[in-house]
Amino acid sequence: MFPLIIASLIPISCSQSSRNSDSFVISCGLSSNVGTDADGRKWRSDYRFLTSSTNTINSTAQSQDPSLPSQIPYMSARIFTSPTSYKFQVSPTNRLWLRLHFYPSEYSSLLPSQAYFSVSANDLTLLNNFSSFITAKALTQAYFIKEYSLVPIQSGELNITFTPSMQQNGYYAFINGIEIISMPEIFKPAILVPTDQFVDAGNLSMQTMFRLNVGGQYIAPTNDSGRLSRTWYDDTPYLFGAASGITFGADKNVSIQYPFDTPHYIAPLGVYSTARSMGQNASVNQNYNLTWVFHVDPNFTYIVRLHFCELLYTRINQRVFDIYVNNQTAQVTADVIAWAQSKGVPTYKDYATRVNDGPGDEELWVALHPSVSAKPEFYDAILNGLEVFKVSDNSGNLAGPNPIPSNELYENELANKFNPSKINPAPIIGGIAGGAVGVAFVVAVFFVFYRKKKQDYGNEVVANWLPTYGSSHFTNSKSVFSGKSTMGSSNLSYLRQGLCRHFSLQEIIVATKNFNNSQVIGVGGFGNVYKGVIDGGVTKVAIKRSNPSSEQGVMEFQTEIDMLSKLRHKHLVSLIGFCEENGEMILVYDHMANGTLREHLYRSNKPALPWKNRLEICIGAARGLHYLHTGAKFIIIHRDVKTTNILLDDKWVAKVSDFGLSKTGPNLHQTHVSTMVKGSFGYLDPEYFRRQQLTEKSDVYSFGVVLFEVLCARPALDPSLPKEQVSLADWALLCQRQGNLEGIIDPKLRGKINPQCLKKFSETAVKCLADHGAERPSMGDVLWNLEFALQLQENPGEGEHANAIAILDIEEGSTSSTTNELDDSSVVFSQIFEQKGR
Ligand SMILES: *[C@@H]1O[C@H](CO)[C@@H](O)[C@H](O)[C@H]1NC(C)=O
Ligand SMILES: *[C@@H]1O[C@H](CO)[C@@H](O)[C@H](O)[C@H]1NC(C)=O
Ligand SMILES: *[C@@H]1O[C@H](CO)[C@@H](O)[C@H](O)[C@H]1NC(C)=O
Ligand SMILES: *[C@@H]1O[C@H](CO)[C@@H](O)[C@H](O)[C@H]1NC(C)=O
Ligand SMILES: *[C@@H]1O[C@H](CO)[C@@H](O)[C@H](O)[C@H]1NC(C)=O
Ligand SMILES: *[C@@H]1O[C@H](CO)[C@@H](O)[C@H](O)[C@H]1NC(C)=O
Ligand SMILES: *[C@@H]1O[C@H](CO)[C@@H](O)[C@H](O)[C@H]1NC(C)=O
Ligand SMILES: *[C@@H]1O[C@H](CO)[C@@H](O)[C@H](O)[C@H]1NC(C)=O
Ligand SMILES: *[C@@H]1O[C@H](CO)[C@@H](O)[C@H](O)[C@H]1NC(C)=O
Ligand SMILES: *[C@@H]1O[C@H](CO)[C@@H](O)[C@H](O)[C@H]1NC(C)=O
Ligand SMILES: *[C@@H]1O[C@H](CO)[C@@H](O)[C@H](O)[C@H]1NC(C)=O
Ligand SMILES: *[C@@H]1O[C@H](CO)[C@@H](O)[C@H](O)[C@H]1NC(C)=O
Repeated sequence: MFPLIIASLIPISCSQSSRNSDSFVISCGLSSNVGTDADGRKWRSDYRFLTSSTNTINSTAQSQDPSLPSQIPYMSARIFTSPTSYKFQVSPTNRLWLRLHFYPSEYSSLLPSQAYFSVSANDLTLLNNFSSFITAKALTQAYFIKEYSLVPIQSGELNITFTPSMQQNGYYAFINGIEIISMPEIFKPAILVPTDQFVDAGNLSMQTMFRLNVGGQYIAPTNDSGRLSRTWYDDTPYLFGAASGITFGADKNVSIQYPFDTPHYIAPLGVYSTARSMGQNASVNQNYNLTWVFHVDPNFTYIVRLHFCELLYTRINQRVFDIYVNNQTAQVTADVIAWAQSKGVPTYKDYATRVNDGPGDEELWVALHPSVSAKPEFYDAILNGLEVFKVSDNSGNLAGPNPIPSNELYENELANKFNPSKINPAPIIGGIAGGAVGVAFVVAVFFVFYRKKKQDYGNEVVANWLPTYGSSHFTNSKSVFSGKSTMGSSNLSYLRQGLCRHFSLQEIIVATKNFNNSQVIGVGGFGNVYKGVIDGGVTKVAIKRSNPSSEQGVMEFQTEIDMLSKLRHKHLVSLIGFCEENGEMILVYDHMANGTLREHLYRSNKPALPWKNRLEICIGAARGLHYLHTGAKFIIIHRDVKTTNILLDDKWVAKVSDFGLSKTGPNLHQTHVSTMVKGSFGYLDPEYFRRQQLTEKSDVYSFGVVLFEVLCARPALDPSLPKEQVSLADWALLCQRQGNLEGIIDPKLRGKINPQCLKKFSETAVKCLADHGAERPSMGDVLWNLEFALQLQENPGEGEHANAIAILDIEEGSTSSTTNELDDSSVVFSQIFEQKGR
């Protein structure tokens, strides 16, 4: 139902592509013969491949989304109003990659929402009733690429036909770019799980659904092996549950040798030299499955390709495991050394599985578990890479239905509960800043929606002001930390004696009036959240009751307590205690009387917050984040900083909520922070997409958006506004450049902000939004500058000298890249100002 697009942007070098008769790199609708993209690659015009020029025009997009990597091929398009074909002469013996590039936008006054069409390649249907507009919306990307692998075309003639849908008048078809690239045959028969039949993948055409470098990092198309220009993504977004094992890389002295039956073009070195395994603790490993979950279209057969390369052990029966595909045993006693003969030798296995169309069947599960019966030396499993391909069905079809864009996410984000009909989706595509092609991100988003749908959240959205970590990896694990693993080290009895309080079930029952529905203030995948009072009515609390469920749940519960109980700070929402009794898993948090920061800014009937309060709240939140980044044992990156995650207690003290946990696993390369792309639109660090690497500067970016939200009292994204204003970050930066920031500040604040204070505040916010993380200040610098802004508000006389220091400080911050260390001067100043300022 949700086709996942594996995108690749920089396939084979231009010289090769233009010379090789089998390779075509075509920019459709290009008005010149040849154009060059941002990577220096040459794209040819599509004219000489068109079989007919009636009912087709070339057109230029009327607007250029900032996230487009290059004007070519995206800004020009070929429009079709009746069925039209391209014809290419191809090698009759080679398998082909076919990549289709789409940028849904307004072309020649045709609306992007009117493009409904099918695409076929000879007899194979690639897309049907396809809306690139809906697809882009669901992916939250301005543009996207679909990748197919076609069996050799014996006639030597590839005919790609675009047919506008006939359902309604005015529907049209379009395409921006086409790549056709010869590839070696990389498929062979695969066992159909759970039968002993085979699927002869070698003579079937496929669509690439997922391609992951398990335990490793993003691999760009230019770094792929065999000039196949594939993109490999980090696997963390697909991991199921908190028990995600550990990642590691090949030791320097392990050299990876491709054997005869696994040529180097099967997968690059980067895939085989990193891996994920279950962890050190045999008893923990026996109690969980290392699991990846993918969302796929039903009614298709899929080829799941697993890449292995043992990096640590050398002998047979050291690491032996079972492989499950869709909960069926695909392989018992997998032993990589037995397959590959030696350490450092790559090998791969293909399994085919059928995904039917029934409730719960749109998922594809891949799970590993130690083979206890084989009595190996280590109860562990390993995986280095994973690919999923959709196989064309008997009728020569690869097309699935259009995805359903996540309304929940969308509405949640806009908080436009009061007038949903006003939401005009059209501008959002153009409006999302910095949304590059990030499949990982796409999936994270998708799961937010999908999980919600599946678990039937009903109409209620999780109470925004509560910490909602835990339960589902996809929706809730927001943060990562590097360093020692906490997995398996939770020890509730230790916590009981320590900071965390242990409640009896009876106490909880009294507090929640026996879990009476009238007390429910939030519903989530993890179960309900209740308000309650403890200590005889003295203390108000929020109580999260987990659904009594799997083993997985228990582990997450323990990890959550373990992590949270170590994070204590005035500006972080804190865990008061827990209850583990009778199979119940219950967490008790501070109650935040004044709700979220957002509801005090706009679209509510609450009185407007005075500027000084707003500043103090920003300072509090900055302190909380600064602590997460530098004060705890691990660097903790929040990943979802936004105004609904900043809560206010009854004294208006800001507390950051929803900071994270769940992600465990030491990394042998301690510098690597594994990324699970996660966050909210409008707040997302553009660099995070580009580099797929997470640093605390991503939080700084999001916090910059929060600062403007506080100043302007409008949402981070508001699609009802004219296009250039949709994204607050873009709009504020534009206004700042034009010297017109005053024009967009909250009308209720006009004339109430001291000009010097406003200058300091907006300079700070602008710095936070710097395109490159290294140019952004650290959270400590931000804190320092906000405190200084507060000073300027209260004592405007405090002149030029101090101001100069502040500017100097923020500029130093900007060059000091991603240091984790507390800037001493900022501590000192923040203390000075705290005493003076309040
Ligand atoms: C290309 O394919 C379409 C549909 O399969 C067919 O109608 C058309 O005649 C073909 N064109 C050529 C030139 O083979
Ligand atoms: C693939 O090969 C098998 C036998 O090798 C044959 O039965 C089948 O028809 C072939 N399928 C296609 C689509 O050519
Ligand atoms: C390709 O790999 C090299 C070395 O591993 C690295 O320096 C380079 O940045 C990579 N290129 C891309 C585009 O990621
Ligand atoms: C190679 O690495 C292994 C551990 O990964 C270590 O035990 C061994 O001593 C190393 N050998 C050399 C020659 O460095
Ligand atoms: C899957 O196939 C079944 C039976 O052929 C059909 O009823 C169902 O609509 C199909 N589902 C999709 C999503 O195409
Ligand atoms: C596999 O099993 C899990 C629970 O054990 C279930 O939630 C999931 O839906 C199953 N997946 C499939 C594809 O049947
Ligand atoms: C692992 O997955 C298999 C197949 O779904 C299932 O039978 C088994 O119970 C799972 N084991 C654990 C510990 O979850
Ligand atoms: C075409 O796609 C749209 C949007 O997903 C859907 O509403 C419509 O029912 C589809 N039409 C057909 C004939 O499948
Ligand atoms: C493994 O984990 C279990 C349960 O968490 C614990 O009791 C045991 O001490 C651990 N073993 C090792 C070797 O760490
Ligand atoms: C948990 O902590 C207690 C007290 O420190 C200790 O006695 C016990 O052995 C620990 N249990 C585990 C499984 O680590
Ligand atoms: C829940 O509370 C309401 C009033 O507070 C009461 O009328 C109702 O009976 C309670 N429900 C249950 C199931 O206890
Ligand atoms: C903030 O909390 C205080 C104390 O609970 C309460 O009196 C006040 O009405 C709240 N303000 C708003 C706007 O909710």
